[in-house]
Order: sequence, then structure tokens, then C-alpha cells
Amino acid sequence: MSALIPYYDWLKAGHVIFVIFWMAGMFMLPRYLAYHCETAIGSAESEAWKAREKRLLRIIVNPAMILTWVFGLTLAATGDWFAQPWLHAKLTLVLLLSGFHGFLAGQVRKFGRDQGLRNGRTWRLLNEIPSFATIAIVILVVIKPF
Ligand code: HEM
Repeated sequence: MSALIPYYDWLKAGHVIFVIFWMAGMFMLPRYLAYHCETAIGSAESEAWKAREKRLLRIIVNPAMILTWVFGLTLAATGDWFAQPWLHAKLTLVLLLSGFHGFLAGQVRKFGRDQGLRNGRTWRLLNEIPSFATIAIVILVVIKPF
């Protein structure tokens, strides 16, 4: 990937832009689901939340996750970072975050059928997962403590 070295900073800019879109969606989706499960099944409000959840997932969260991975892996290859322990730790956390993303996508499908985890308090607690992941991931990549 040495051909991409002159574009390293542009790749990093692209990576951070899609990280922001992805994380914005990861903060919004559990909150949407918290509001959604407090509405009556079959109500107009509940149907409106279903449409919002599907749109957010399809237009922002899914494409942003894919592009974050594409730019991130390209950066790792271009910068020859793959042997670094901080990257291994970061990748572990990002894989867990991607798993949480998959869980949210599954819940959006279930909420579409009026099923799923219908507890607002639990969704507000789950909302903290992306916050803690972001703090740890940014410290790992900026400080590179090991
Ligand atoms: C999807 C898998 C990911 C991979 C493979 C990846 C990999 C990388 C690599 C190799 C760099 C360049 C480091 C440097 O030049 O010093 C980078 C930069 C960065 N990444 Fe990721 N990353 C991923 C996901 C994420 C996520 C989820 C976040 C935030 C929640 C994130 C936040 C950042 C930030 C803020 C930078 C800029 C750091 C700086 O300029 O000092 N990345 N990433």
C-alpha cells in the first residue's frame, strides 16, 4: 500500500468523517428504541419510529460502519501499523462495537414486527456502550499507550 502514502492524511480525514457519522448513529439508535418502546404498539407514533429507525440504519449507520472499516484498514496497511499492540486492542474494541451494531440492526428488525427488547431503562443503559467504546478507542489511537 506504499502507493497511498502521499494520501495518508486524506485517508485519515475520510476515516474520521465516517467514524463521526457511525458514532452519531450508534448514539441515536438506542435512544430511538428507548422512545419507541414507550409508545403503544400499533399507534401512529410507534409506526413513525419504525420508519425513522430503518431510515437511520440504512442511510447513515450501515454505510458509515462499512466506510469506517474500509478507511481504517487502508490506513493500517498504508501506515504499516498491523504489528502494533495498540491497534490490536483498538480492533478488539471496534469488533465488539460492530457486534453491538449488529445487535441494534437485529432489534430494529424485531421492533418492525412489534417485538424486541421493550424496556426504556435498559435501552438508556445500553446507550452508554458507544460512549465508553469511543473514549477507549480514541485514547488508544491518539496516545498509543503500548
Ligand atoms: C473499523 C476499524 C478501524 C480501524 C482498522 C482503524 C484504524 C486506524 C488507523 C490505522 C489510524 C491511523 C493512526 C495514526 O495515523 O496514528 C486511525 C486513526 C483514527 N481512528 Fe481509527 N480505526 C477503526 C475504527 C475507528 C473507530 C470506531 C474510531 C472511533 C470511535 C476511530 C477513531 C480514530 C481517530 C480519532 C483517528 C485519528 C487519530 C490521530 O490522528 O491521531 N477509529 N484508525
